Amino acid sequence: MSKKTLLIISGGIEAVPIIKQARDMGLRVVVSDGNPSAPGFEIADERIIASTYDHERTIELAIESNKKNPIHGVMAAAADVPYTVSYVSNGLGLTGIPLESARITTDKLAMKEFFKTHGIPVPWFSNISNEEHLNKLLRETEKNLIVKPVDSRGARGVIRLLKNIDPDWAYNESLKHSPSKRLMVEQWIEGRQISTESIVTEDDVTTPGLSDRNYQYLERFAPFVIEDGGDLPAELSQDEKDAIDRVISNVARCLSVKNWTIKGDIVIGANGPLVIEAALRLSGGYFCSHTIPLSTGSNIVEAAILMALGEKIDIKKYAPCFKQHVCQRFIFPEPGVLTEVKADPRIYNDKNLEMLNIYVKAGDAIPKIVSHPCRAGTIVTTGKTRKEAIDNAQRILSSISIKSDFGG
Ligand SMILES: Nc1ncnc2c1ncn2[C@@H]1O[C@H](COP(=O)(O)OP(=O)(O)OP(=O)(O)O)[C@@H](O)[C@H]1O
Ligand SMILES: [Mg+2]
Repeated sequence: MSKKTLLIISGGIEAVPIIKQARDMGLRVVVSDGNPSAPGFEIADERIIASTYDHERTIELAIESNKKNPIHGVMAAAADVPYTVSYVSNGLGLTGIPLESARITTDKLAMKEFFKTHGIPVPWFSNISNEEHLNKLLRETEKNLIVKPVDSRGARGVIRLLKNIDPDWAYNESLKHSPSKRLMVEQWIEGRQISTESIVTEDDVTTPGLSDRNYQYLERFAPFVIEDGGDLPAELSQDEKDAIDRVISNVARCLSVKNWTIKGDIVIGANGPLVIEAALRLSGGYFCSHTIPLSTGSNIVEAAILMALGEKIDIKKYAPCFKQHVCQRFIFPEPGVLTEVKADPRIYNDKNLEMLNIYVKAGDAIPKIVSHPCRAGTIVTTGKTRKEAIDNAQRILSSISIKSDFGG
């Protein structure tokens, strides 16, 4: 029997392990990306050069490719492009997610309105039409607020309206990151921040991905909201895990999503989990490809690939089951021009080191850290306890010398 073909939208660096896995599963892999030198192209069987956001161009070229070699499934890898995925899968008559659900979940305001209507717990929110409107909301509500673009990602333009922050500045700063020039405001929810990644089938849900997001630098980077990795497994009671599964299951039901994965940003508020965001795709940041399987043994990438191909999966096979403690941290050098980036090659032999990627080199200019794309590297370590995994990450990071002319 000839190989099945999977179209993976995005050939970015974080997509590489997912493309590799699809190939290891014996699939023929077509990769689409707008960047002709995307690293994923190096291991693809066929390339489609089209921006991951350009659904028209992607379908046009996917139809051509499909004529030569039928495509059996479409998915994204570490890219927030559910609309393109849905547009292409619909166009080719393949399994996927409803186009309208993809549209709703890529507009933060539409998503919150939809969730509110369907009884999914979300923070208080409002659209904001201009600076005056924002100032009025600040005067009228007693709540701590956060402003964000409705259509951006990577925490770009996500700004807490702390007491010392000028709302007009925050409005204009956030606006720079909204392609459609639309912003919203939400109540900032105090509580544990959890990254989730779930598999939903016709009638079941399981959440192998549960990570305590590390926001130890909330003050250092304020008013921006910069996550510094996470720790798995998340420290949650069975009741809290069940509550998360219920929320994700309801999200899937109201969006008519089945046989797919859902990435969630959840905060555990005073009355249980609230949804900050639900994305109809696999996660980025090496969550699905590295930290989840390392910590739980759950091969969520395999599940996503099989479901994109329209195959039935046994969800029990992917249920979380504790394997080991895993710590992920990012590298945030001081702003300035880097004068030195040096890592002793022997650290790569450390038995607790699972991944170390440094994205910067001497001579690079490091900007002020205002969003997640400002990360200069990432590390993943394991340990017998959470503390040991964190200590291992810190020990290895402190042996790497990254100096900038700013003195960092
Ligand atoms: N209302 C809120 N209450 C508490 N935390 C929040 C709130 N809004 C955002 N955050 C935190 O800030 C992060 C970034 O916000 P958001 O997800 O809205 O932006 P984003 O651009 O999609 O970022 P990312 O791509 O990292 O998810 C959230 O994942 C969450 O940890
Ligand atoms: Mg988000």
